Amino acid sequence: MSTPDPAFDAFLDRLPKAELHVHIEGTLEPETIFALAARNRVALAYPDVETLRAAYAFHDLQSFLDIYYAGASVLLTADDFHDMAAAYLEKAAADGVIRAEIFFYPQTHTARGVAMATVIEGLGRALDEARAKGMSCDLILCFLRHLSEEDAVATLEAALPFRDAFIGVGLDSSEVGHPPEKFARVFAEARRHGLHVVAHAGEEGPPAYIRSALDVLGVERIDHGVRCLEDAELTARLARERMALTVCPFSNVRLKVCETLAAHPLKRMLDAGLAVTVNSDDPAYFGGYLGANLRETCAALGLTRAEAVTIVRNGLAASFVDAATRAAFLARLEAAVAAG
Ligand code: ADE
Ligand code: ZN
Repeated sequence: MSTPDPAFDAFLDRLPKAELHVHIEGTLEPETIFALAARNRVALAYPDVETLRAAYAFHDLQSFLDIYYAGASVLLTADDFHDMAAAYLEKAAADGVIRAEIFFYPQTHTARGVAMATVIEGLGRALDEARAKGMSCDLILCFLRHLSEEDAVATLEAALPFRDAFIGVGLDSSEVGHPPEKFARVFAEARRHGLHVVAHAGEEGPPAYIRSALDVLGVERIDHGVRCLEDAELTARLARERMALTVCPFSNVRLKVCETLAAHPLKRMLDAGLAVTVNSDDPAYFGGYLGANLRETCAALGLTRAEAVTIVRNGLAASFVDAATRAAFLARLEAAVAAG
């Protein structure tokens, strides 16, 4: 066990940060799920908050996704989407997040009869309010990889009338058996529209999925990517290309990608020269938001201040913002580091 270091924690808390891998539906706290179920008269399979929380004992990605999609079923109105995103953005700001790139999953909602416009209007309103308070934030639309590419194509088409409301597309849900190349056409189409592209790869899936995310989808960042370490040549390539990997330590422990935080590969990834960032993934399900992920991971792995700053710097540097904004973010970080 690591020794608590309040001064180190306070230093980490003060650093301006980017969160590049958070699913907005994964920020729905159990209490909010029950409040929205009551507001919208949606039946839940769990009698109360405690029982639901007790069900958060996952043994792999799929066992989590099954509960997670059930939780998202309480979201019906634009206000629901707004309230969920506003709650996340408030917590993120308290954690020192100055840049948030937020995944959302329209297919989970449109399949239940919720209109694309409802989802985007509600989320967009919360982001506008956060921007008015000084936060830089944007949405990334994610395709569910367990569904067909045709479904993803139809989803992109349905979202394009709201093209200005999101900056990119991503790929997530059940990884194994659904390799990136299944979505080659829809990613090419997204790139034609000038959208940024990212994909979950190498979380449960093999290093080959990271390769095809790079070579077939043309991604600009890899979400997770921890299994790259099984392939020395791929690791060297990712390091050489300064490809950002949005690592989510609490998620990896809770979904059994690694056994404990102390055994997490983040330190080995840093040592391999990879551009790793730390993120929360689904904080309401995995035990904490970005600040907690960073503090506890640094403590468990015995990372130095310099290593922690490198991780935070990597996140700001990998943000999808213009060069001047990125430079301003990095200058804010260096000022915070200099202030100690
Ligand atoms: N959706 C939400 N969290 C996810 C994860 N960690 N991997 C794949 N899909 C997800
Ligand atoms: Zn994720």
